[in-house]
Amino acid sequence: MVIFGIEMTKDKSKQDLGSHRVTTSGDIEVSTYLEIAKELGGEQPSAPEEAISGAEREAIIVIDFGSQYSLLIARRIRECQVYCELLPYDTPWEKIISLNPKGFILSGGPASVYEPGAPLAPAYIYESNLPILGICYGMQVITHQLGGKVMPATKHEYGHAVLHVSNVDSPLLADLDTSLPVWMSHGDQIEEMPPGFSALAYTEGSPFAIMGNDKRIFGLQFHPEVAHTPQGKTILKNFAYRICGCRGNWTMGNFTKDSLARIKEQVGRGKVINALSGGVDSAVVATLIHRAIGNQLTCIFVNNGLLRREEVERTFNIFHLNLGMNIIHIDASERFLHCLKGVVNPEVKRKVIGEEFIKVFEEEASRIGKVDFLAQGTLYPDVIESASSGSKASAKIKTHHNVGGLPAKMTLNLIEPLRYLFKDEVRQVGLELGLPEEMIWRQPFPGPGLAIRIIGEVTKEKLEILRSADWVVMNEIKKAKLYRQLWQSFAILTDVKSVGVMGDFRTYGYLVSIRAVTSEDAMTADWARLPYDLLARISNRIVNEVPEVNRVVYDITSKPPSTIEWE
Ligand code: XMP
Repeated sequence: MVIFGIEMTKDKSKQDLGSHRVTTSGDIEVSTYLEIAKELGGEQPSAPEEAISGAEREAIIVIDFGSQYSLLIARRIRECQVYCELLPYDTPWEKIISLNPKGFILSGGPASVYEPGAPLAPAYIYESNLPILGICYGMQVITHQLGGKVMPATKHEYGHAVLHVSNVDSPLLADLDTSLPVWMSHGDQIEEMPPGFSALAYTEGSPFAIMGNDKRIFGLQFHPEVAHTPQGKTILKNFAYRICGCRGNWTMGNFTKDSLARIKEQVGRGKVINALSGGVDSAVVATLIHRAIGNQLTCIFVNNGLLRREEVERTFNIFHLNLGMNIIHIDASERFLHCLKGVVNPEVKRKVIGEEFIKVFEEEASRIGKVDFLAQGTLYPDVIESASSGSKASAKIKTHHNVGGLPAKMTLNLIEPLRYLFKDEVRQVGLELGLPEEMIWRQPFPGPGLAIRIIGEVTKEKLEILRSADWVVMNEIKKAKLYRQLWQSFAILTDVKSVGVMGDFRTYGYLVSIRAVTSEDAMTADWARLPYDLLARISNRIVNEVPEVNRVVYDITSKPPSTIEWE
C-alpha cells in the first residue's frame, strides 16, 4: 500500500524558498519540502486510510463551509478520541466513504444560504442516512435544503448568550445543565424550521437555538467548538457517541502502533533521510521512523551556528547517545556566518539562511548514496492551510524558513507520518514513544534561529551576547514554572545602545528586550503578564551576567499588530 508516495522531479532551479507560505505549527520543521514537492509537480498524498487502519476505522467528517472555527471542531472531536477530518463541501463521496464515516458535521461559514451560489451540502449527506449536526451556517444549510426558512436576523447575535434547554431527554443534550452559556456569531437566523423538526433549546434572540428531528439530524445556532461555550464539548461528544455510535478508538497508542506497522511496510528495505532540528515535530517523526526501521534511517543535523546555548549538544545526546539514532552532525556555523556578513534586512537574512541550509543538506545527503525516502514533520493544520491557501490572496508578512532541503539528482518519496495530527496529538505520540518531557514540551524555535532575534548584522560577538541573555530568560522562566504555559519566551538583541552607570563608571551598552507570549497556534498571541518580581530577576541577572548589556525592556505588544519574532 503506497500511501505517502510523491515522486519528485529534479529541477533544482525551482527550489525558491521565497514563495513559501507561513506554517501554523510555529516550529522548526521540514515542511518546506512539501512546497518544493508541489512546485516540482508532485501531488499531495491523499491517503485517508493512513490515519487509522482497517476494521477499527470510524470517523466523523466535518464538511467545511469556511468558518474560522472549522478546524477547531475537528480538534474537539478528536479530543473525544474519535477520529475526525475536515473536508471541503465538494468532496466526492468515494473519498468520504473510504474513511468509514459515522456522522457529518456541517461547519459554520461566512455565506448566506439564500444568496445565489451559496455553498450547500452535497445530496449524499442526506441520502447516507447518517447523523448530521449543522453548526451555525451548517444549521442554516440544513434548514434551507430540507424546506425551512432562513432570514437575515433583525438583530445580529454576536457574543455570549444563555441557552435554555427545553428538551432534556434528547441524547444530544445529555449531561448538560438546563441553562448554559453559549457563544453566538450569526447574522442570519432560522425563521421556520423544516418539516419534522422541533426546537430543543432557545436563547433570548434565537427561538430555535437547537433543533432536531427523528432522523438524527440536528442544528445548533451557536458555536459549541469555541472555549466561550464551556459545555460545547459535551454536546459534540454526545453527538459522536450517543447519536453516531462511535466507540472512541482514536488514541495515540493505537495511532503509534498503526503508524509503526505502516512505515515498515512502506519503506521495506529502503533508506530514509530526515532533517533533524530538535523541534518537537521533527523529533517525533525521527523517533517514530527509527522505531520502525532502525538504522535504515539517517538523520542530518545541521548546526547553522544560530542555535541557543547547549542546544547542539543536547539534541545530539538525546538522539544519538540515548536513542541510538544514526546522525550526521554538520557544524556549518562558519559557513552561515560568512553568508550573513553585512546582511541587515530581515527578509534577506531568511532567504540567505534558507538557501544555505539547502546547499549543506544536499551536500551531506549526496554523500550517503542512494536514498529512497525523505521524512518530514507536516502537521494537519499545515495540510488544511495549504489546501485552502491556493484560493486566498494573502499578504506575505514573513518568509518562514523551515529546516529543509532537497537532495539534488534524487527521486524521493515523502514519508509524513504526522500528516493527520494536531500539535497536541504529536506531543502525545512523543510521550508514547518515550521521548523526554523536555523535548516534548519544547517551545517553538524558528528555523532561522537567533539570526532573526538579532536586529541588524549577525556577528559571532552578538550571537554570544544573545545566547547569554537568552539563557538567563529561559532559566528564570523555568525556575518560575512558567515554561509550559508560555507559547514562547526569549530575548532579543536590539541594535540600540544606551548610556548607563555601573559602580562609578559610565557604560554604553546594548539594549536587550524580553518577549514572552501566550498563544494557541501562533496566528495570534498576547504578551504574557509575567510577575514583576520575575521580570526584575531576569533584568538584574542579564545586566550582571552579560557585560555588554546595560538596559533591559519588556515587549508588551500582542500579535497583531506585532509579530512574535522581531524580524
Ligand atoms: P511570527 O513572528 O510570524 O511567528 O509571529 C509565528 C511563529 O512562527 C515561528 N517562526 C518560524 N518558524 N521558521 C519556523 O519554523 C521560520 O522561519 C519562522 N519564523 C517565525 C515563531 O517563532 C512563532 O512561533
